[in-house]
Amino acid sequence: MKKPFLLLFAVLCLQTVSAQKEAVTIAIKNDASAPTINKNIYGHFAEHLGHCIYGGFFVGDTSKIPNTNGVRNDIVQALKDLKIPNLRWPGGCFADTYHWKDGIGPKEQRPTIVNQWWGGVTEDNSFGTHDFLNMCELLGAEPYLSGNVGSGTVQELADWVQYANFGGKSPMSDLRRKNGRTEPWKVKYWGIGNEAWGCGGNMTADYYADEYKKFATFMSDWGNTGGITRIASGANSSDYNWTEVLMKNIPLSMLGGVGVHHYAVINWEKKGSDVDFTEKEYFLTMQSALKMEELVTKHAAVMDKYDPEKKVAMIVDEWGGWYDVQKGTNPGFLYQQNTMRDAVLAGATLNIFNNHADRVRMANLAQCVNVLQAVILTDKAKMITTPTYHVMKMYSVHQDAKLLPVDFKSPLYTFDGKSIPAVSASVSKDQKGLVHISLVNVDAVNKNKIEIDVKDLGVKNFTGSIITSSKLQDYNSFENPNKIVPVAFKGFENKKGKLEITLPPYSVLVLEGK
Ligand code: AHR
Repeated sequence: MKKPFLLLFAVLCLQTVSAQKEAVTIAIKNDASAPTINKNIYGHFAEHLGHCIYGGFFVGDTSKIPNTNGVRNDIVQALKDLKIPNLRWPGGCFADTYHWKDGIGPKEQRPTIVNQWWGGVTEDNSFGTHDFLNMCELLGAEPYLSGNVGSGTVQELADWVQYANFGGKSPMSDLRRKNGRTEPWKVKYWGIGNEAWGCGGNMTADYYADEYKKFATFMSDWGNTGGITRIASGANSSDYNWTEVLMKNIPLSMLGGVGVHHYAVINWEKKGSDVDFTEKEYFLTMQSALKMEELVTKHAAVMDKYDPEKKVAMIVDEWGGWYDVQKGTNPGFLYQQNTMRDAVLAGATLNIFNNHADRVRMANLAQCVNVLQAVILTDKAKMITTPTYHVMKMYSVHQDAKLLPVDFKSPLYTFDGKSIPAVSASVSKDQKGLVHISLVNVDAVNKNKIEIDVKDLGVKNFTGSIITSSKLQDYNSFENPNKIVPVAFKGFENKKGKLEITLPPYSVLVLEGK
């Protein structure tokens, strides 16, 4: 190609990009066949890791910090405000080392356990099955128990189900009663191992599929829970073969859900600082986070082959941003701060899950308190909520609402010659008829203009609430806990049923139409 043509070509390309930057039009489809967004997409994860349980949720009933049976009241309230729908426990990698019978009965008689995955610390098992399941009742959240396959036995997991769920007379339900709990908790969600391809036993997919069937066979629902949901330990990110082997080999009647784990990470060897990061690191984190769209799409395509009626749920039971631990903290405790980067990451990921609600029916952000992309951080008696917490709270309006699918071509956020979509969106209508539009501008530098025709949605008046800050690296600290909180958003106009929105760089917005 001669140079003038090259130049013309470049100018045309630039015009296309800048024309898109001018305003992106988002079409909302009022599609009656669209799925409901399962509230469980807004689930959380609590592992025996660092100060998630001990020194996080659980301070013990002799603590001066206000608590209910040892669980911090301020955390319970904050999570109730978030409408936490479910909580996964006790791991993670820890789950395949955990023997639940060590965590029941008189606390002073419980054996200790050395946490071989996370910091090598010795735990006293003072937070066990009763503590967790009673805490879920306080939270109003469904428990999701992760069973031990790697170092446990079929009998041990079958017993755990009987202990938690059986209402009649049996060895395990009698033991539960002896330990102070008459009524069964009726736990619905049961994970069969965790990361079986890695810390859960380094198994092949074929071997794990057989193990799964063996464990699942003996996990009765004891007739009083309306059926338990057995969840297979799923693929590591883009390991589609893992999903394929499980779907092919496990009868659908034994399979309630298949997991997927994906962390937004720049490089596993050098993850970068949680707060002191460059735009390049931000871009790479978001590139990794947005890969979730491709992962969910491709894992769903594999599942569709074997389960066209979409009976089996995709359960993204670990997701979030993962950086180097904060300086001066135990490397095994995975403690990191939470900035505007995490708010954008959360907003964009939740939009992906909402838009794939036909298959994604549960997800668990890793992790709830003091670990990885936490929604809550504690420092002795102090507790703060993070930007991610506020995004989850703003997005809680989508829980159990009807998805209104969106159609648009996102402008690009380009850095160093590489591009990712800049705008992410999802929309739903709740049972009261309120419409919620959540929008994220991933671009770290440029604002984005958005136009949405809302005439046919049956709502007239819109209000908005936005999360943003003067710096991408900003976060809530114990000294300044409310630096990043949602504020009223005025950057839009409703021009006779056409919303014109200007979305600031790195921001998360939820509009409500009534
Ligand atoms: O969330 C931290 C760890 O990440 C979990 O224990 C494990 O399942 C995953 O690798």
